[in-house]
Amino acid sequence: MTRAHVPVLAGELIELTSPAPGENVVDCTFGAGGHARLMADRIGAGGTLVCIDRDPSAEERFEEMAAEVSCRTRFLRMEYGEALDLLRQEGFGADLVYLDLGISSMQVDAWERGFSYSYDAPLDMRMDPGQELDARAIVNGYDERRLAQLFRRYGEDPNARVIAREIVRRRRRAPIETTGELVEAIEAALPAAIRRRFGGGSPAKRVFQAVRIAVNSELESLDRALPAAWDLLGEGGRLAVVSFHSLEDRRVKRFLATLARGCICPPDLPVCACGRTPEAELLTRRAVAPSPGEVADNPRSKSGRLRVARRLDEGAS
Ligand SMILES: C[S@@+](CC[C@H](N)C(=O)[O-])C[C@H]1O[C@@H](n2cnc3c(N)ncnc32)[C@H](O)[C@@H]1O
Repeated sequence: MTRAHVPVLAGELIELTSPAPGENVVDCTFGAGGHARLMADRIGAGGTLVCIDRDPSAEERFEEMAAEVSCRTRFLRMEYGEALDLLRQEGFGADLVYLDLGISSMQVDAWERGFSYSYDAPLDMRMDPGQELDARAIVNGYDERRLAQLFRRYGEDPNARVIAREIVRRRRRAPIETTGELVEAIEAALPAAIRRRFGGGSPAKRVFQAVRIAVNSELESLDRALPAAWDLLGEGGRLAVVSFHSLEDRRVKRFLATLARGCICPPDLPVCACGRTPEAELLTRRAVAPSPGEVADNPRSKSGRLRVARRLDEGAS
């Protein structure tokens, strides 16, 4: 069953980024447009809302939203780093850019796309179905060491090695084609005592997350997008990111902290030699987490973390 995507940390995002009438806003991860609609209401008829998503199914939902809001709207079906570069080349200046990372509930629940370990489907997991690399290529193509590394780094899975070994053993007989076969391999790799520790949860969750991140180059995309988003902002512009994985949040934290610090001289240098001044004011000293009420209403929000910064200098726009 496909559930509507519930936007995560929506109230906090609006409150901290303060979208105002007439502003130019870029939503890098349109999804079902939950955040975008709230932004559109705030910026009103004088504002412009550019929405980006690499998943073609998001475009239909964008058309529905665009017909119902008063601001100017535009949709870019592209990878968000590329779209931000394009906007910069066009000379578009933004007052607010935000990213809500990961995948939407509609993507998870579209069983045939292979994002979920709860359904048996072809091993796909591509946000952009036009992309060549899919989960099948990774699960059957990476050698054992690389698979274990992937599960450990992106899935933080303590059983990475035994799972990788079992996958490689099974695919010697025949390629692993479906999500169901991947779940079977993961479960077979783990002794019953370890499997029992997952209770109602699935031991496949971490591996699926890791493969999805690799299929969609999610961390590389984020690394590219953060400076591109910052470059679109003028003085007073805000950048906000909702992340769902510690590896994402760490990147955002580091990126914003460097901008807020300004000086990049080694700490043992007695005086500053780089001459750089802070470019950012952090509007969130610590990442903002969803309230217990939000988590109770929408368990998928649980790992969401929001960080927001405001541009202090004139920027490039
Ligand atoms: C968590 S959902 C966003 C939900 C949205 N904020 C809402 O309120 O409905 C993330 C969306 O970003 C898209 N996405 C993720 N990475 C992307 C990238 N690198 N480029 C473009 N779109 C991306 C996904 O396809 C997905 O639709």
